[in-house]
Amino acid sequence: MSYPYQIKSLEQYHADYKRSVEDPEAFWGNVAENFTWRRKWDKVLDWNFTEPKIEWFKGGKLNITENCIDRHLPEKANTPAFIWEPNNPEERVRVVTYARLHKRVCQAAQMLVNNGVKKGDRVCIYMGMVPELAYAVLACARIGAIHSVIFGGFSAQSIADRLYDAQAEFIITCDGAYRGGKDIPLKSVIDDALVGNRTIKRVIVYTRTRTPVSMIKGRDVWWEDEMEFALDQLEKNGEVNFPAVEMDAEDPLFILYTSGSTGKPKGVVHSCGGYMLWTNYTFVNVFQYKPGNIHFCTADIGWITGHSYIVYGPTSAGASSVMFEGIPTWPDAGRFWDIVERHKVNCIYTAPTAIRSLMSYGTDPLKGKDLSSLQVLGTVGEPINEEAWHWYDENVGKGKCPVVDTWWQTETGACLISNMAGVTPAKPSWATLPMPGVQPVLVDERGEEITERDEHGVMKGNLCIKAPWPGILRTTWGDHERCRTNYFATYPGLYFTGDGALKDADGNYRITGRVDDVLNISGHRIGTAEVENAINMHSGVVESAVVGYPHDIKGQGIYAYVIYNGHHGDENLRRLDISLTVSKIIGPIAKPDKIQFVSGLPKTRSGKIMRRILRKIAEGEMENLGDTTTLLDPEVVNEIKHGKL
Ligand code: PRX
Repeated sequence: MSYPYQIKSLEQYHADYKRSVEDPEAFWGNVAENFTWRRKWDKVLDWNFTEPKIEWFKGGKLNITENCIDRHLPEKANTPAFIWEPNNPEERVRVVTYARLHKRVCQAAQMLVNNGVKKGDRVCIYMGMVPELAYAVLACARIGAIHSVIFGGFSAQSIADRLYDAQAEFIITCDGAYRGGKDIPLKSVIDDALVGNRTIKRVIVYTRTRTPVSMIKGRDVWWEDEMEFALDQLEKNGEVNFPAVEMDAEDPLFILYTSGSTGKPKGVVHSCGGYMLWTNYTFVNVFQYKPGNIHFCTADIGWITGHSYIVYGPTSAGASSVMFEGIPTWPDAGRFWDIVERHKVNCIYTAPTAIRSLMSYGTDPLKGKDLSSLQVLGTVGEPINEEAWHWYDENVGKGKCPVVDTWWQTETGACLISNMAGVTPAKPSWATLPMPGVQPVLVDERGEEITERDEHGVMKGNLCIKAPWPGILRTTWGDHERCRTNYFATYPGLYFTGDGALKDADGNYRITGRVDDVLNISGHRIGTAEVENAINMHSGVVESAVVGYPHDIKGQGIYAYVIYNGHHGDENLRRLDISLTVSKIIGPIAKPDKIQFVSGLPKTRSGKIMRRILRKIAEGEMENLGDTTTLLDPEVVNEIKHGKL
């Protein structure tokens, strides 16, 4: 397979960028010619950001799995599609070749059909990082069912909310998952999520930990039994193949729930054609993938990074993708480096949080590890501080591997702003230049384009994008108006990212962080309102306010100010109770790092909480708190300052 759209030089980047902006239809139409379509599209692009309506390759018929699997056969039948590294390094590594992947995905597709799943149905997937998770995702895509993967760290309540919102009828899960020293009882969480649920018809359970689980007659079935039965059926036809269902380029491929500044998480919807093109194009260009390279994205498939750069991007390019079940620090902090050495990884792609956490162990865990196969290092998910950038560059890349800092979001499908390894220049802690087709613009609060530069030639503003790229979200599931108000209404005519950014005189972008009420904890998005709602569910809590504060490892930590009026016992016990409540409502990832009990919150006379003040205090900034005279009770600020943790 060749990638004629792979950019090989800085000059070519500039030329391609220009062409992509001047004539997007010609540019992306050309790229799309390199994929397998059953029928060619009627029109490359039709859009407006008012409704919004965004259609790429409408009328084009395809199935993404034919592009991710079938077209690589037979040339790559024996090439690994996935190399699975188990949590416990003593356990056997599993190598899934493209031929094996084809067989397993066909079996799983048959299994889904046998269990009543049809095109357009929503299938919730709540599994650990096992190859079967990738089979499940691709099997849904093969039959045109819409997958909605939920990260294993979300609680039963979060799952129940997502199942309801998506009106899902099917679940694929595991008995349990291994994560470092812990066993996570996934099926048991699903059982809790299903108490009172009447819409779920089938739960398919894959055995990973052999934890005892309840199996409800008529609803719960074992993956292994169903897969075997499906194989028997397929074998009767001679060749093991489940013909892929034909999809329109604009049919939904998946839903992925993500947090915003208000309300419950929303289901971001990606479409078959545009998403395929975008993950493939960015995978091949950002990481400068070359045939034979081994790509190791350390994310979990429960997040967009795993969807795009473990599953769809690499397989659409016929690459070999390492899938890792464990965590970077277990059984020791050399785990990533052992994996790189064992599988001769060429590209490692991880989060700044993981880098900072590994940094805290020093360089001993790297000693004696052969990292000479590495050619490219990548980061994603949050701003990377210069110290972590240099540590990664010097100790992992030995100064010879380009570091790509990739900025993007669940909503963008894949990278929007990033350097391309070795092709466009890197700048520590800057995401640098936009991908072809991506037109960023910085605006002020009123939506006016920023033109002013500081003495270093740098502009600062809210980051928006002017026109659609193929991988942009199409809607939020079941509520298109929410999509419009969230992303397209703040600044009419623009997609608003929710991020603030700087732009230097060379056109490089640096993402400074969220400008809305969304926190980024270890690269995971959580809304402050969501955490507050969960804290307020605790019976003793009267009111709460949540803000982010700088955290050495996680990037941001969660600081909660809580007015408590319940049972008065030990303060620490109260904190644990509140944390557990949050864990039950959202999941352990949303537990506050600090809980300060207060008697009041700084509010304006109209009752609005002045978060600016709370944020400053949480950051340790006690002096310049700004104007506090408009507060209902200015005295409360002194009390809060006094009690800061
Ligand atoms: O604030 C930005 C930050 O992560 C947010 C998107 O989160 P999510 O949808 O969970 O997707 C994460 C994986 C793509 C963004 O709004 N972010 C992501 N990448 C970077 C980043 N901030 C700075 N630099 C990055 N490279």
